[in-house]
Amino acid sequence: MEQTKRGSFTGSLGFILATAGSAIGLGNLWRFPYLAAKDGGGLFILIYVILILTFGYTLMTAEIAIGRKTGVGPLQAYAKIDKRFGFLGWIATIVPVIIFPYYCVIGGWIVEYGFTYISGGANTIYEGGAGNFFSAFISNPITSVICFLVFMGFATVIVLLGVEKGIEKASKIMMPILFLLIIGIAIYSLTLSHTDENGVTRTAWEGLKIYLIPNFEGLTLSKFFSILLDATGQMFYSLSVAMGIMITYGSYTKKEDDLSSSINRIELFDTGVALLAGMIVIPTVFVFQGTEGLASSGPSLMFVSLPTVFEQMGIWGHVVGALFFLLVFFAALTSAISLMEAVTASIIDRFQVKRPIATAVCFGFSIVLGVIVCFGYSLLYCEIPLPNGTVGQLLDVLDYATNSLLLPIVALLTCVMVGWVCKPSCVLDEIRIGHKSATLHREKLFVVMIKFVAPMLLLIILLQAFNLFSFM
Ligand code: PFF
Repeated sequence: MEQTKRGSFTGSLGFILATAGSAIGLGNLWRFPYLAAKDGGGLFILIYVILILTFGYTLMTAEIAIGRKTGVGPLQAYAKIDKRFGFLGWIATIVPVIIFPYYCVIGGWIVEYGFTYISGGANTIYEGGAGNFFSAFISNPITSVICFLVFMGFATVIVLLGVEKGIEKASKIMMPILFLLIIGIAIYSLTLSHTDENGVTRTAWEGLKIYLIPNFEGLTLSKFFSILLDATGQMFYSLSVAMGIMITYGSYTKKEDDLSSSINRIELFDTGVALLAGMIVIPTVFVFQGTEGLASSGPSLMFVSLPTVFEQMGIWGHVVGALFFLLVFFAALTSAISLMEAVTASIIDRFQVKRPIATAVCFGFSIVLGVIVCFGYSLLYCEIPLPNGTVGQLLDVLDYATNSLLLPIVALLTCVMVGWVCKPSCVLDEIRIGHKSATLHREKLFVVMIKFVAPMLLLIILLQAFNLFSFM
C-alpha cells in the first residue's frame, strides 16, 4: 500500500517551539506552583531541576530519538524498534486518547475565565466569591460543555491544518507571546506589596524568598521522599513524556536537525516557564493572603485563590487576570494540540487514512468522552474512591489512571526496551546523526539513568500509586 505522505517541521526552531509548547502547559502554570508551595519551595525546586536534567532528559531523548528513527507515530514506533514491544505502542497511544478530552474540559474552564476577564465581567466571578463561581460553572452542564467544545474546536482546526501550516505556525505565533506575557506578569508581580487589615505589610520579595530559599527546618526522611516523589511526578507531567507525543514530534524532525541541542533548549524553556509561574503565583498569593493563603492553596489555586487575589488588586486585577488567563490559554492549547496530534498521527500511520479522517475520528471520540467528563460535575455526579485513598470525580479518575498508572508503566517499559533490549546505543546513535560536535553531552548519564535509576524510581512511583509503598 502506498505510504500516506507525512508532514515535517521546516527546521529546528519549529520543532523546538512546538515541543516546548507541548511541554509548557497546565503542568507548569498550575501544578508546579501549588506543589512548590505545598513542598516548601526551594528544596522542591532544587530536586525538580536535578530530575529534569537527568531523568527527564533521558526519557525525552529516548522518545524523540525513537520517533525520528522509526518515522512513525507511537502506535507503530515501538513495534518497529522491537516486535515484542508492539503492545507498548497501544498503551502509549491510549494515554493521549484519554488525556486529550479531559485536558480540553479544563481548557474549557480557562476559556470561561479568560472570556469573563477579557470582556470586563470579572465582577461576576467576585460577587458570590470565586469558589462559588467555580462550582456553579463546572456544575452547569450546558456552559461547561460549550466552553469545552470551543477549546477543543481551536485544537482541532490547528491539527487539521497539518504539521507545518497548523502546529508549527501556531507554535511560532503563540509561544513568543506566551514568553512575553509570563515575563511581563512576573516582573509586575515582583513589584507588589500590600498592607492587610491588621496593619501588616507584606512584599513580593519576602514571598520570593519563601519560594526560592530551601527550608530544611523540620525536614524528615519521609518528608524528603515525599517531596522527591512529588517532583518526579511533576517532571513527567511537565515534559509530556510517556504519552506518545515526543515520539510523534520526533518523527517530524529531519535527519540534519541537532536533536541534542534542541532537547537542551526545550528543557530550558519548560523549566524556565515553570519557575516563572511559581515566581508569579507564590509571591502574589503571599502578599495578599500570607503564608496561610499559600498553605491552603491546593489544586483550586488557579480558579479560586488567584481570582481572589486579582480581586484584591483592584482595577489592575482585571488587567492582570485577563493577561494571566490568556497566557494559560496559549499554554494549554499548545499542549492539547500535541495530545491530539499524537492520536491523529497514530491513526494516519496505522490505517493509512488522510489527515481529515483521522482528525475527525479523534474529534468524535473526544466529544463523547469530554461531554461525559463535563457531566461528571452535574448530571453524572459521583464520588469515586481512588487507590491512593482519595475520592474524585470522573476527571480525577481519568487523571489518576493516566498520570499515576499508565504513564509510569509506559516509561518503565520504554526504559526496559531501550536500556536492556535494543540497548542505549540504538538511541544514542540516532542522536549522533546531525549532532554538531564529536562528543555527546550526558551520554554516560543517559546509559546509567535508562538502565538503572529511572526504572527503579518508576517502579517506586507505581507501587506508591497502589499504596503498596511508603517511606516510614
Ligand atoms: N506537559 C503538558 C503540561 O504540563 O500541561 C501537557 C500535559 C501533561 C497534558 C500531562 C496532560 C497531561 F496529563
